[in-house]
Amino acid sequence: MSYFLGIDVGTSGTKALIMDESGRVLCTATEGYAVDMPQNGWAEQHPGIWWEAAIGAVRGVLKNAEYVKGLKAVGLTGQMHGLAMLDKKGDVIRPALLWCDQRTGDQCRQITEAVGEKRLIELTANPALTGFTSPKILWVRENEPENYAKCASIMLPKDYIRYKLTGDNAGDMSDASGTGLLDVPRRCWSDEVLDKLNIDKGLLGKLYESCEVTGQISEAAARETGLPAGLPVVAGAGDNAAAAIGTGVARDGRAFVTIGSSGVVFAHTSVMKLDPAGRAHAFCAAVPGEWHVMGVSLAAGMSLQWLRNQALSNLCEQAAKEGRDVYDIMSGLAARSPIGSNRLIFLPYLNGERTPHKDPDCRGVFFGLSASHTQNDLIRAVMEGVSFAGKDSLDIIREMGIGVKDITACGGGGGSAFWRGMLADVFGIPVAAAQSQEGPALGAAILAAVGAGVFKSVPAACDALITTNAPAMPEQSSTAGYAKYHVLFKSLYASLKDDFKTLSAL
Ligand code: XUL
Repeated sequence: MSYFLGIDVGTSGTKALIMDESGRVLCTATEGYAVDMPQNGWAEQHPGIWWEAAIGAVRGVLKNAEYVKGLKAVGLTGQMHGLAMLDKKGDVIRPALLWCDQRTGDQCRQITEAVGEKRLIELTANPALTGFTSPKILWVRENEPENYAKCASIMLPKDYIRYKLTGDNAGDMSDASGTGLLDVPRRCWSDEVLDKLNIDKGLLGKLYESCEVTGQISEAAARETGLPAGLPVVAGAGDNAAAAIGTGVARDGRAFVTIGSSGVVFAHTSVMKLDPAGRAHAFCAAVPGEWHVMGVSLAAGMSLQWLRNQALSNLCEQAAKEGRDVYDIMSGLAARSPIGSNRLIFLPYLNGERTPHKDPDCRGVFFGLSASHTQNDLIRAVMEGVSFAGKDSLDIIREMGIGVKDITACGGGGGSAFWRGMLADVFGIPVAAAQSQEGPALGAAILAAVGAGVFKSVPAACDALITTNAPAMPEQSSTAGYAKYHVLFKSLYASLKDDFKTLSAL
């Protein structure tokens, strides 16, 4: 039997997954870690913790010696945009700035000025956004020149793990799309952007399509992880592009919504499409020569996690006592509150927001809070707010001329039948459950199988391996009910936009 290993360097932990040739997930192991938030709006992790967690997770799934014997290739995926900087000895210089870090508003303005707003979107298919990697590079250059001077290579999170596994500085098109330095239509580093920002191309990794082999497991990595030396490692993909493969979104007309730490609505497109206003991201797909568009909300599952941690300790205790998942208990309580959460609206902007606002300064809001509101209403309002943010992304994708008639849900939130039903009603389309909630890690394993030559193409692998379950269907009256709240949800941001700026300057 042949096996494939997917490694997902996530925001809350690193997961390893073993898949067989039929696409069955045989085993997973996850090692968790935290995000450091040294200041309001900052988010960092030391790449060393990713590597420690990767070793732990890989060793976890390799406990079964049969897997070690049958392994044919490794695929990598992970949180996008994070900036890992290494010195010439290959040591990490400072903690990585993460995708949800919002400190780089000034650097985004500088990039837009240096390249020109329109030209930047023509070249990179996206505007300068605080989450992207290029403003993070400029921030370190400006604020920590001593660190920048030491920098010999720049890597995205999953590519740091590749470096530790194989010794190569390499990456894939989908993840590189989120650096703000890739010529997305032409699938190469943009010399023009690099020149205008005065960033040395030599710092960046070699680019591959997602299913191409970039290197082999080194002897040193074999000793640390238990993986066989010489095992091929494929380029892999950013977490969203990999989740697309893990949910079978590899052809026109296919789309998924994920509620993980971030919330994403993602649609595949075989032709390059971009939003001239830069509200939705246009990135390379993990399918060679094709693309995707996606809207990203920065605090989706993270909003619910925040509520759980800060206000629902009673439910955590109940879950521990009853041996249940606290999120199941939360879904059950949310279901007891009606559509609109008894007139309570939550704006899920805990970390600022990308789609559609591109605003690092906005923050979360409970609007309409009354003494009569219960935990049930608070939980439901957070789930509804995250769903409305997803609808904002879906509306933009449709405006770009990409039809989305149904969608597959994945990520932790996508695993909840209650939340899928809510998404179906808010979006007004059927929402299917992904067969496996392992989206990114499974996608990485599938890319490994394509790289190992088991399938002739990425879409062919998806056709052979991925099925979806019966969808949740929208109910017209509920869709109409949610639509009224969605209008107010949108106007709240418009009303508060300037106040968020004032608050951030206090
Ligand atoms: C995508 C994005 C997030 C991260 C974290 O642009 O920032 O989805 O990849 O998972």
